[in-house]
Amino acid sequence: MTEKIKITDYFSAHINGEHRTALTAILNDVITACKKIAIAIDSGALEGTMHNLSSENVQGEVQKALDVITNEIFIESAQTSGYVVGMASEEMEEIIQLDEDISPNGQYLLLFDPLDGSSNVNVNISVGTIFSILKSPGAMPVLADFLQPGSQQICAGYALYGTSTMLVLTIGNGVHGFTLDNELGEFYLTHANMQVPADTQEFAINMSNYRFWQAPIQRYIDECLQGEEGDREKDFNMRWVASMVAEIHRILVRGGVFMYPMDSKIKKQGGKLRLLYEANPMSFIMEQAGGLSTTGHMRILELVPSALHQRVPVIMGSKHEVERIATYHGKTKR
Ligand code: AHG
Ligand code: MN
Ligand code: MN
Repeated sequence: MTEKIKITDYFSAHINGEHRTALTAILNDVITACKKIAIAIDSGALEGTMHNLSSENVQGEVQKALDVITNEIFIESAQTSGYVVGMASEEMEEIIQLDEDISPNGQYLLLFDPLDGSSNVNVNISVGTIFSILKSPGAMPVLADFLQPGSQQICAGYALYGTSTMLVLTIGNGVHGFTLDNELGEFYLTHANMQVPADTQEFAINMSNYRFWQAPIQRYIDECLQGEEGDREKDFNMRWVASMVAEIHRILVRGGVFMYPMDSKIKKQGGKLRLLYEANPMSFIMEQAGGLSTTGHMRILELVPSALHQRVPVIMGSKHEVERIATYHGKTKR
């Protein structure tokens, strides 16, 4: 059997260029955060942390105790490297600026969703953590510094707390997945150069929203459901975990298309998923794995954000299906 490659050895061999030292240090903190979050989730029922809180987050969503706990773990862990000067999270209304004594080398911004799919946490279904790393334009970052298009990301990744704990990330040279060896407390490379198949017969969408969708999505799903008897002349399968991380991971492994499109119920808020710490990092990963990601009308990575917690419609996954759905929207821009 060939020797297993530790995540830190992988970084030493593959992270090059101007961000090398900083990125390696920041990712070490992210690894620590994800290991601690895995333990917090694993012991949630035993520790009594699976309940809802009476508080809501900035998005007006009910918070679970673990939303808050995992947010605190991430913030604390990410202060070791000294390179992170600002943070933003789904669970915090405002950005965090780190003082010079905590971030003497601070040049980077870390954006994250500490617990993705948190409605699944107390029913023992997979959840995740999503993160995105940007270069900070200024020494003391302000809100505007976080509002960079996703194409500016230096690194993006997610942890999946599933049948095993995995860390999957891109630094712009493909997508690589690492699995946690619980006994050794170490992530090892298990999924090198993940590639999303261009064709698929599997889609993921919350079907209960059918009547609120716009015509292009209804048309696409109708055709999938007609299967062999319709224009597509093939049957489709459906999955909906309600944890974006789990859906995207499945698509990276075996293909598929994931959609949380615009619908009339969520139109006012711009969509369901958040651009900066859900849609952008996942779009970067998806494109690096050979897939596509669009709002239906434009490439998500080219959107210029206007607010920290901005939401967007998301359609991503296997190239040929995403292209088809974009065509149904009257595609103007990839
Ligand atoms: P979060 O738990 O971070 O708020 O994100 C949940 C998101 C995403 O992970 C998932 O795809 C979607 O919300 C599920 O939404 P529905 O409950 O509307 O299906
Ligand atoms: Mn989320
Ligand atoms: Mn979340």
